[in-house]
Amino acid sequence: MRFEFLTEKDAEKILRFEKKSDYKDGYSEKVLRASLNRENGYYLALSEDDLSAIISFTVSEDFADIEEVLVSPSERKKGYAFSLINKAVEIIKEKGAKKIFLEVRRSNLPAINLYIKAGFSKISERKKYYQDGEDALIFIKEI
Ligand SMILES: CC(C)(COP(=O)(O)OP(=O)(O)OC[C@H]1O[C@@H](n2cnc3c(N)ncnc32)[C@H](O)[C@@H]1OP(=O)(O)O)[C@@H](O)C(=O)NCCC(=O)NCCS
Repeated sequence: MRFEFLTEKDAEKILRFEKKSDYKDGYSEKVLRASLNRENGYYLALSEDDLSAIISFTVSEDFADIEEVLVSPSERKKGYAFSLINKAVEIIKEKGAKKIFLEVRRSNLPAINLYIKAGFSKISERKKYYQDGEDALIFIKEI
C-alpha cells in the first residue's frame, strides 16, 4: 500500500471509486475536475493496484479544510482512514497552516469517531447543511 497524489488524469478513477463505495456527497465530474486543478487543493490516495482510500483537502495560508475521506467498503476498519488523515495533517503542517476544519453528518458515527481519534474536536453545528436536510457538525484540529 502506498500514498499517491491524484491529479486531473485520475478524475474517472475517483468517480468510479466513489460510485463503487456508494458515496453520496461527492462532486459532479465537472466540479471534481475543477477541484483537482486547484492550486491549493490536494487529493491523496492509499492505493495498491486500485484505489483503497482517498482524502481531499485544501490549504489557504493559516487554514486547511478536509473535504472528503472515503475508504473502499471492503477495506474499512484496517486503519487506512486514520493513516491518510495523519499523512494529510503532516502535509498541511509543512505548508504552514495552523487550523484544520471539516464537517461531518450528525449521523455518521464511524467518521465522527475517526476524527476524534485523529485529535479533532467539535466546535459548532450547521443546521440542515446537507441537501437532504441533515445537520453538519464542524470539527477543528489546531496543529
Ligand atoms: C469513516 C471511514 C472513512 C472510516 O474509514 P476506516 O478506514 O474504516 O477507518 P479506520 O480503520 O482508520 O478507523 C479509525 C477509527 O475510526 C472509527 N471507526 C471506523 N469505522 C467505524 C465504525 N464502523 N463504527 C464506529 N467507529 C468507527 C474508530 O474510532 C476507529 O478507531 P479504532 O479502530 O481504534 O476503533 C469509512 O467508514 C468510510 O469511508 N465511510 C464512508 C464515507 C464517509 O462517511 N466519509 C466521512 C465523511 S466525508
